[in-house]
Order: sequence, then structure tokens, then C-alpha cells
Amino acid sequence: MCGIVAYIGPREAYPVLLKGLKRLEYRGYDSSGVALLNNGLKVYKKKGKVAELEESLVGKDLHAHAGIGHTRWATHGEPSDRNAHPHQSANGKLAMIHNGIIENYAQLKNELLKKGYSFKSDTDTEVLLNFIEDIQINNDCGLEEAVRIALKRVVGAYVIVLLDEDNPDTIIAARKGSPLVIGVGKGEHFLASDASPIIEYTKEVVYINDYELAIIKADELVLKNLGNEKITPFVQKLDMELAAIEKGGYDHFMLKEIFEQPDTIFDCLRGRLDIINNTITMAGVQNNIEQLKNANRIIIIACGTSWHAGLVAEYIIEELCRIPVEVEYASEFRYRNPVVHKGDVIIAISQSGETADTIVAIDKAKEQGAFIFGVVNVVGSSIARISHAGAYTHAGPEIGVASTKAFTAQLVVLTMIALKIAKEKNSINEERYAHLINELHNIPEKVKEVLLINDVVKNIAVKYKDATDALYLGRGYNFPIALEGALKLKEISYIHAEGYPAAEMKHGPIALVDENLPVVFVATKDIYHEKIISNVQEIKARKGKIIAVISSGDEIIPAMANDVMIVPEADEIVAPIISVIPLQLLSYYIGIAKGCDVDKPRNLAKSVTVE
Ligand code: AGP
Ligand code: GLU
Repeated sequence: MCGIVAYIGPREAYPVLLKGLKRLEYRGYDSSGVALLNNGLKVYKKKGKVAELEESLVGKDLHAHAGIGHTRWATHGEPSDRNAHPHQSANGKLAMIHNGIIENYAQLKNELLKKGYSFKSDTDTEVLLNFIEDIQINNDCGLEEAVRIALKRVVGAYVIVLLDEDNPDTIIAARKGSPLVIGVGKGEHFLASDASPIIEYTKEVVYINDYELAIIKADELVLKNLGNEKITPFVQKLDMELAAIEKGGYDHFMLKEIFEQPDTIFDCLRGRLDIINNTITMAGVQNNIEQLKNANRIIIIACGTSWHAGLVAEYIIEELCRIPVEVEYASEFRYRNPVVHKGDVIIAISQSGETADTIVAIDKAKEQGAFIFGVVNVVGSSIARISHAGAYTHAGPEIGVASTKAFTAQLVVLTMIALKIAKEKNSINEERYAHLINELHNIPEKVKEVLLINDVVKNIAVKYKDATDALYLGRGYNFPIALEGALKLKEISYIHAEGYPAAEMKHGPIALVDENLPVVFVATKDIYHEKIISNVQEIKARKGKIIAVISSGDEIIPAMANDVMIVPEADEIVAPIISVIPLQLLSYYIGIAKGCDVDKPRNLAKSVTVE
């Protein structure tokens, strides 16, 4: 995710770009920049917020009628001035902004390095830009043709927008897999990642499709496919208000992010999971595989929802890699006098990469010689920087305070890490390895299927919105999901909820059960299924209200439960990624039914950077 804005027409371009970038900052920013075309290209870019870029440009000659602007959400190359967009090509004639990931950038970069190209940044974007320039020079063709040729070789997701100082009256854009809207004005055109920067100027928009190219002048919009065939632009009328646009048409960022999960999980797998060759590519793991596979022990350190992801990872790593795993609350680990040995590996999990307790815990473990592997969502964040190696979750900016898409992305990354280690240790056979790779590949589609029960969950939520307490129960891989479901309910609806191992009920908590207590079972089909059916019966016998997440085809639990939320079957190792979705929706709709501020729950911060 990031923000893209461009303008060409009679207005001063810079104010349009600046205002548009500020509207798009919700999409994530770690740096921003603009390129303006007026007697040549002028590129200004800076790490930090858009306001910092604005301040740095005060007093400069920013006159131009064509320009492009970008707020970056880094994927390749940490946030910095030099990695910010727009990037300029080697000969300085082209400027480009990009939203997405070029998966085969390393291969393209090697080809360009052999041709003598050098690079000013660490980004995949600059590689693509110089690849386009190289084609333009070698084929002696115009920019439009060079972009078309280049994109036929690109693997990944992109929206790219380019300025060419030799053609100052034209902007060229293309997309595959990332969003782009073109605003059609009178003698002017606007481009943006969504309609929020456009809507105040025009409500006439064109959404360009994957593999399409736009050649835009102030008074002309030409669409073509990569085969150079013209496409008639379909001009639509915007019917959303500004606030709704930022949320993608959803009522809240939390709901938008829950529904983004098929895409964010796909992005997390992108360029890593290869089901044709049965391989998982993760440089951070591969380059440190000896350290990881020979670990005497793995200590997972995290907080909150990330800690729940760690618990799932404990079960998976021990099952697949046969390495002992401990999961520690960072806030406890840092104040104890923990025993950490040189051969230990720490996996630090954090969406923000800025959680104070986790940072201090990492430092403490580092002092004792542990190897730190970070699983982080925000590229270039503190935890990413202090870790010896790591893997990004590529979930995009998570605006809702309650972690949803970042959590499922963490589970996907942790599962891939475990599979890679197990493969290297030969602790998994080929058949199971291939099966689990296929299971991961199918997750985005299965999450799409789960999201179809949205209205079912909404109706269930209304029934239990006045509960004062709730129990969430699960076994095995689903026990951490019970904990996560309880946390979601607590933080979104302020209802007290506890997660528990289902078998643990008889050791005390079952005393809580009566006809007023909703008990949520995470009871998808797995090796524990017979046992959890007994647990459901125990609660039923005491008149507890039973809400169950079950696998499609389960006919036993529906006969005992008051309400069921049905999810597609999946291997127990990847099932948590699916079984958590109904619980995210349940907490969201109960919070809504109670009139809570679901995006900004009381007392909570998105990133707990204080101790
Ligand atoms: C999750 O919904 C909460 N917002 C919170 O528990 C969060 O997971 C925790 O603060 C850890 O944050 P981090 O992943 O950014 O380190
Ligand atoms: N992959 C590009 C980069 O890391 C673009 C990231 C984005 O979408 O902002 O710079």
C-alpha cells in the first residue's frame, strides 16, 4: 500500500499533489516526494510525513502544470530520503512512482548491473525504472513502447506513473494488482491510488484494469493494453463521499482490513511460495538457515495479538521442526533474569516493529548472545533494524487499532519459516511438505469463502451484545485462536472475555458456566475434534450458550450449539488462519451493536511505544 497522486492540466500541479498526498497518508507512509515537470524534471523527496516534505519545499520554485507525488510504504529498502519516491532514471530524463512489489527485481537488477548501471537506492522501483530506460535506449523507442515491453517481463504487482522530460505534455501510467483511479476533468486529468485526492475536482473517473496502460495529456486520455491495442475508457460517476473512500466503502478501517485478508495473505505469499516447484523463498531464512535449523531452542518474544501468533508458531515449529520452543511475553521476559544461551534463536513478532517491551526484550537477549529473527510488518521499523535477520509480513498499513490482517499475515510467515527449517532439517517428508505448501496456497481463497458468512456473524453478534462475560475455548492449534478471539472481544466491545484451553475448564473455570454465559468454541475438524465435542457437551449440560466455529460438514456440533460459524476445512496447521476470521467479525459486530469506536477503542494505542 502507498499513496500515488499525479496531475496534468492548467492548474499549478504542486498544490494538487500536496493535498492529494495528505489525503492518502492513511494508506501508509514512511517517506514522500514529488516530481514536477517545468523546463526539465525537478524531484523532491524526504523520509517522514508529507508535512515534513512540504516544509522542506518552502521557498522553492515549484511552478509546474504536470507532476507526480508518492507516499511510500516500503517493501524493498528501508525508509530514507534516497529510497523515497519519485525515483529518477540513470540518465535523469525519467521520474517514476510505484505502488507494489516487483518480485523479479533482483534478476532485472543483475542484468542492469552487468550493463554498467548503478543504483542510488535499494528499491525494486528504481530497478524497474532503469529497466525501462535501458529498453528505451536499446530499442530506440518512445517511453510508452518501452513501458509496454518492460512490463511484459515484470513479475509482481504495480501501479507505476512516469514523467518524461522529453515529453512534458504527457504522463504515462500502468497497473497490475495495485489500485489506480483516473479523474477526468475539463482540460485536465488526475491520477490517484483511490478517489480521495480526486473527488474535490471531478466526480468523473476511470478505473484502469490490470495490464492496461494510460497515456494522459491535459485534454486527452488514451488507454491501451500491453499488446498496444486501444481500449475505450469507461467513465463512471463517483458516488462515495470522501470519508467512505478512505475506508474503501467499508464503515470502518477494521472491517476493511478484515476483508482485505485474502489480498494481504496473497501479498504475504507473493514471491515466496512456489507451488509449481514446491519451494519457499525467504532470503532472511535461507541466509541464516544454519543458525535457525541448529537452534538449541527457539524463544518467541511478542505482546498481545503478536504473542498469540507466537503461540500458534510454537505448536507448528515443534510439530514440524522438532526444536523446543518457548513463547514469552516481552514485558515479562525483559524484567526477569532469563536464561538465554548463545545457541538460542529469538523470533520477535511485531506488527508495528516499535513495541517498547519487545525492543527491550530483544536487546536483553542479544546481550546474552542470542540470534534475533524479526517477523515485522513495518519495513525499516526499530525491531526490523535491531534484528540480525527477518521476514516482513507485507500486510500493508493496519489502521484499525485491533490487529486483524497483520495477525493472519504473521501466521502465514511463521508457517513458511517453520516449513523452510523443517525441510532443511529433513524433519518433514516430501509429501507432507508439498501438502502444506498447497494448503498455504489455498488460504486466500478459503479466507474469501469464510468472509461470505459476514451476515451470519452479524446476526449472531446482535444476540450476544449485552453479555457481560464470555469464554473462548480451543484445543491444540486453535487454543491460541481462542485467546485471540477473547482479546478481540475485550478490546473492541469492552466485554470481559477469557480464552482457555478447552480441556482446562474442568480445573475451575467451568464454575462460571450458567445460562447467561456465552461460550465460544473454536472447534474446526482436527485431531482434537472428538475431545472438544465432549467439552461442548460439558458446557451444554450446564446451560451455557454455545457459539462454535466449525468446519463445513460437521454435523455433530451444530446439534448442540446455539449458533455456528462455518469455515472451510483445512489442515490443522493452517486452520488457525481461517478460524480466527469469524472471531474478528464477531468482535467487530458486537462492538458496532454496542456503539463502540471500533477503529479507536478506548484506552488503546495502535503501537505501544511506552513501557
Ligand atoms: C492487538 O489487537 C492489539 N492492538 C495489541 O495487542 C497488539 O497486538 C500489541 O500491542 C503488539 O503490537 P505489535 O504487534 O505492534 O508489537
Ligand atoms: N516496492 C516499492 C518500495 O519499496 C513501493 C512500495 C510502496 O508501494 O509504497 O519502494
